[in-house]
Amino acid sequence: MAEIISQNSISKYLKTKSGNLGIIDKLKVIYRPLICPFDKLLNYVENDDSVFDIGCGSGQFCALVAKFTASENIMGIEISDTLIQNAKNLNQEFISSKSVQFEVFNGFEIPNTIKNYSKIFLIDVLHHVPKKNQFDFLKEIYSKMSNGSVLILKDIDDESLLVYFNKIHDFIFSGEIGFELKSTVAKKLTKEIGFNIIDGFSKRMFVYPHYFLILRK
Ligand SMILES: C[S@@+](CC[C@H](N)C(=O)[O-])C[C@H]1O[C@@H](n2cnc3c(N)ncnc32)[C@H](O)[C@@H]1O
Repeated sequence: MAEIISQNSISKYLKTKSGNLGIIDKLKVIYRPLICPFDKLLNYVENDDSVFDIGCGSGQFCALVAKFTASENIMGIEISDTLIQNAKNLNQEFISSKSVQFEVFNGFEIPNTIKNYSKIFLIDVLHHVPKKNQFDFLKEIYSKMSNGSVLILKDIDDESLLVYFNKIHDFIFSGEIGFELKSTVAKKLTKEIGFNIIDGFSKRMFVYPHYFLILRK
């Protein structure tokens, strides 16, 4: 298991790593732990896990996995070339000491290499996928995962009125209005696809209503 680590230390650590990023990306990396429960997410990484992060952004979660867990194999994929460059910069110290890789993908077709990883993370990405594509996107992930591997799906819950804070946040930082799902709907869709739901819960952080689904193939 990952060592127990506070959001504060996560923030401090990311601050030391984000020197080469542009100002906006740097702010997003440093302040992300204030609104995203990375501590809770890290607890899902066990010693012998390999980690695959879909929509890895600037690679901050991968860097935390590399720094604070025993996982030796880590891969992040992203639709943005710039963010993949950021991820490589941010993870430079681990690229030679662990197997850490980053790759651009087209936003729909998940690379076959996902089958080599035991824990798959989808953190605040689903609400960036247009609603009409969300079911097929989750189905594509399921079809490429190996049997027994686990998807940790963390997103913002449309069940709560606080979802509007996330919409405002996304509009300010990415000029987009998200397509958040109700956690009950996400549960129904993933079950329909064939996932075995191991756990599901909600956690509010500041004004952001998060839901977690832990899903085994
Ligand atoms: C809110 S950020 C989350 C980044 C990272 N997962 C984290 O938690 O820090 C959403 C990310 O999803 C990416 N994204 C948007 N559409 C995507 C898609 N279809 N597939 C994968 N990533 C996507 C964006 O480029 C962005 O980096």
